[in-house]
Formats: sequence, structure tokens, C-alpha cells
Amino acid sequence: MGIVGTKEGDNSMPAYHTDRSSRAEDSPPTSESKSVSNGGAVSKTIEEYLPELSAAWEIALDRLHTYYDELQESHAFLAAINRVILEVPEFEGIQFRNVSELRLYRSLLYLLTRAFCPEVFVETGVLNGFSSAFVLLAMQHNSAGTLHSIDLPPVDERIRMQGTGPLPQGKAPGWAIPDGLRTRHRLSLGDARVLLPQILERQGSIDVFLHDSDHSYEHMMLEMALAWPCLRQGGWLLCDNVEQNRAFSDFVCGVNAISSVAASFDSPERTWKHGMARKH
Ligand SMILES: C[S@@+](CC[C@H](N)C(=O)[O-])C[C@H]1O[C@@H](n2cnc3c(N)ncnc32)[C@H](O)[C@@H]1O
Repeated sequence: MGIVGTKEGDNSMPAYHTDRSSRAEDSPPTSESKSVSNGGAVSKTIEEYLPELSAAWEIALDRLHTYYDELQESHAFLAAINRVILEVPEFEGIQFRNVSELRLYRSLLYLLTRAFCPEVFVETGVLNGFSSAFVLLAMQHNSAGTLHSIDLPPVDERIRMQGTGPLPQGKAPGWAIPDGLRTRHRLSLGDARVLLPQILERQGSIDVFLHDSDHSYEHMMLEMALAWPCLRQGGWLLCDNVEQNRAFSDFVCGVNAISSVAASFDSPERTWKHGMARKH
């Protein structure tokens, strides 16, 4: 598939493109998002992405619509998240009316997990546990899979500068994951530089790897280089915040993988890009 316009600051840029050598642009750090306008260009909702995801993932569109509808109708999941944040002062006044308000990227994780039914999913970067919760919800709906998560709580100022907020007072990584979803979760606390090689060695082969920890170029390259050889054929490398540097684009070029980047916007100053590459 070819490149479909990717210039930074170009409001005509589609929110999604797929290519063999995509270039991530630098942009400001990230935080929670939902899809809103970007200087006149309205970003896509996850529903609007479905046709492109269907083509890029080679999954029938009506199947993706079914998964999307299931996610929208996961009222117990939304209620459980709203319940768990209710008592947390840092989330005062926040109640999500719809799963889409928890960032496009997490809905993307749900859809990919439903579509490819991974047995072994490894992620770095948990923080509150929202991304983990969406993957675990999909695994519950799949009746299959285990999520292995690694997190080092964000005490390092350098990580905070990347846009990662602190954990709420007294909370441990993953605190927001609804209890009913924890049986398929294996959470390891520590530095991914130490724990990721250990988990990969134990698993041998994995189906999905998701990077969302330290977004420095060196660290992203290290995690991707560790995970890629363990990904099975047809497995997925996912990388959040690929807008922060060129690590994802350099890596996928280096291994000659077909990649896609989905974007979500919060404001003209804040763009998030989510990289996906399939191992063939
Ligand atoms: C952006 S947050 C993760 C958000 C989560 N994936 C979500 O979408 O809900 C990044 C997390 O990675 C952690 N982290 C940063 N460097 C790390 C490292 N070297 N090893 C493990 N975790 C790390 C941060 O402390 C923080 O908790």
C-alpha cells in the first residue's frame, strides 16, 4: 500500500495512512484525548476508521463493525471504570459517557485484539491501566489470551516530560482495570529493559507487542528490537506516540515491514499517532 499524505501541520492530512516506509514527524507530548477538530480538520472517530482498518488488516468490514458495536455496548465495562475512578481525587468530576472518550487508541487495541485473537500479548507502559483494560475486555470477549504487562511507575522527570502524568496518590500501576478482567492479566513491575527480555524468553513466541513506556528514541528501538524476533509470523508490533521521534519509522524500514499509522487529535497542538506493523 502506498503513502497517503503525511506532512506535519498539513490540515488536509488524513488521520490514517499506511505504507512501507512511513516517516513519523515530531510533535508535542501527549495526554488523554478524544477526537476533536484539528485547526479546521476534524479528526476521525474510530468508527470512521473502520473501512481503512478493514483494508489494512484484511478483515471483513462487517466483522469490524460487529466488534465496534460490541465495544460500544460494553456498558458494564464502562460502568466498572466509572466506578473505580469515582473515589480517586485526581479524576474528580470525570465520568466517561462512552468508551470512545477513553481515546481512539484504546478502542483500536480492542478491535485488533478481537480481530486477531492473540494468545500472548505483551505490553510495556501501564500507568492507570486503561490500555490494559481494553485489551483484557477483548480477551474476555474472545475467551482467549493472556496479557503480560510491564510498568515502572512514572517517578522519573524525564518520563513525565514525555507527557505521562503521575499515578494518583497511593495507587499502583493498573489500578483502574476492572477486577472482573484481571484473571487474564500478568503484571510485572520494573524496568522494561530488565523485564522485557525475561518475559520474552519465557514466552518464546508472542502474537502482539505493544510499546507505550519510555518514548525516547533509544528505548523504543530497544523494545522493538527485543520484541520483533519473538513475534510470530502474522503477529503485530504496535507502538503508541510514534509522533515523538523517528524510532517506529526507522525500525519498520529496517525490518522492511508494512506499517500503518492512525492519528487522533486533541487540539492543534496535540496529535497522537499510533503505529502498527505486521510481521510477514
Ligand atoms: C503513557 S503511560 C502508559 C499508558 C497506558 N498504556 C494507557 O494507554 O493507558 C507510560 C508508562 O510507562 C512507564 N515507563 C516508562 N519507562 C519505563 C520503563 N523503562 N520500563 C517500564 N515502564 C516504563 C511510565 O512510568 C508510565 O507508567
